[in-house]
Amino acid sequence: MTDQKRERDESEDWVRIFDTTLRDGEQSPGCTMNVEEKLSVARELETLGVDVIEAGFAAASPGDFESVRRVAETVTEPVVLSLSRTREGDIDRALSAVEGAKKPGIHIFIATSDLHLEHKLGMSRDEVVDAAVWAVTRAKSHVDYIEFSAEDASRSDLDYLCRVFGEVIAAGAIVCNVPDTTGYAVPEQTRELFRHLKAETPGGDRIVWSTHCHNDLGLAVANSLAAVEGGARQIECTINGIGERAGNTSMEECVMALATRHDHFGVATHINTRHIYPASRALSRVIGVAIAPTKPVVGDNAFAHEAGIHQDGVLKNVLTYEIMTPESVGRVSNRLVLGKHSGRHAFADRLRELGIDLERIDVNDAFARFKALADKKKEVFDEDLYAIASEDTDVVQRYQVVAVEVASSLETKPSATVTLSVDGLERSHTAIGDGIVDACYRAIKECIGVDPKLESYQVKGITGGTDAMGDVSCFIRVDDIGVRGRGTHTDVVIASAFAFVDAINRLEARRARRDHAGESAGEMREVGP
Ligand code: KIV
Ligand code: ZN
Repeated sequence: MTDQKRERDESEDWVRIFDTTLRDGEQSPGCTMNVEEKLSVARELETLGVDVIEAGFAAASPGDFESVRRVAETVTEPVVLSLSRTREGDIDRALSAVEGAKKPGIHIFIATSDLHLEHKLGMSRDEVVDAAVWAVTRAKSHVDYIEFSAEDASRSDLDYLCRVFGEVIAAGAIVCNVPDTTGYAVPEQTRELFRHLKAETPGGDRIVWSTHCHNDLGLAVANSLAAVEGGARQIECTINGIGERAGNTSMEECVMALATRHDHFGVATHINTRHIYPASRALSRVIGVAIAPTKPVVGDNAFAHEAGIHQDGVLKNVLTYEIMTPESVGRVSNRLVLGKHSGRHAFADRLRELGIDLERIDVNDAFARFKALADKKKEVFDEDLYAIASEDTDVVQRYQVVAVEVASSLETKPSATVTLSVDGLERSHTAIGDGIVDACYRAIKECIGVDPKLESYQVKGITGGTDAMGDVSCFIRVDDIGVRGRGTHTDVVIASAFAFVDAINRLEARRARRDHAGESAGEMREVGP
């Protein structure tokens, strides 16, 4: 059993964790984040101890540029990178975005498979080498930390790959990344690929080899671990494995595999594994995407023992059915923590233990919400506390839900009467709809006089039981601005109203910011890898 409490020991063989939640992860549908959300995730990543943060693709849009710039100014320990194509404009944007970082860097990529060369780039092999060398040389005159990626490497000709990597190393790349862009590789092949590249690429012994896998065949973690066996010393991954299509390599699974099977892999990471669970939950809350209960390490059931024979074994000796402790990834085994008699100190202590940064929330306000909930519920769970803490928001709440009344029966159409406070004045509307949530949203739209498109709506019971807090997340769009809203309440209809109104407040804040700064919406991408 491994309960990772490794001290940093530079003489030890270790693997860098390169996190691309904010770039490749954020590219997946439903995972877009605004600048503030990206900053909060970046802080989680720094607390986790990741070595490198890929903060975005600066040339993609003004919103992306701003996010990279702000992340670069915010974190101090990790290297902060921006992705860049081999174009001059991209490189200059990337360099300028990471300028304020304590440890700045740039990540340049170009495709190397014949398929991509012919159908996507329309370039010859020689032209691709020239473009890669030109880009690395240009960036190197401004910044030392340069990573080069050969997109679609796993489907590229091996000799050609050695040639490209050899040339960019000579031009100054210090990390060479070998992406399995389409999730096509299998572990045995990946292990051999890395062994070969390391041995046969000119200069391949003096740089860091990096793996970047996609999960189309469910092999991203297995391929990343095989790459480590083949000599890779950097894993590119995302929290919860979010990413394009079936996602990227999951950070928590790789890190815990390396920690739990240190006997096999013989390499360490710098990750503070006790922050894995809080960071995973924090990301899930920010993007409003739930974690599957069976997700290894962070899923609700990952440490739950249901079968009698397992429970019996675990009670006798936990090693019978557990290979790592829940505590080692920051999960607290005692899920029932506080009740209505708990005081402010106990409440604040518990939030701290859960990895919630008290400096960033209004503790008095959160405590008042906790007391209100404790009055309604018998038991307050950790997940309830996360929800309570995350209700803290920096968005001005111009619209606030004052009251929601709904009526529904088998015979009549559902109706809802909603009262909102708009700039301090109350407005009420009644509407009928296809369900009570639909009726409620129609009434809200009437009160405010807007008609945003509801692109997604998700409801989740945060804890078990019919008195659980309902956690609702919705994504709305007006023209080119899309925002997410969240709401929690023991009544899911009220939680739904909170989420919708929260989204409308955010939409308005975003519009106001854009009008002021001429900022274009973060979700609008001009280009993408
Ligand atoms: O999957 C991929 O090839 C990428 C590169 C841009 C590194 O994300
Ligand atoms: Zn990728």
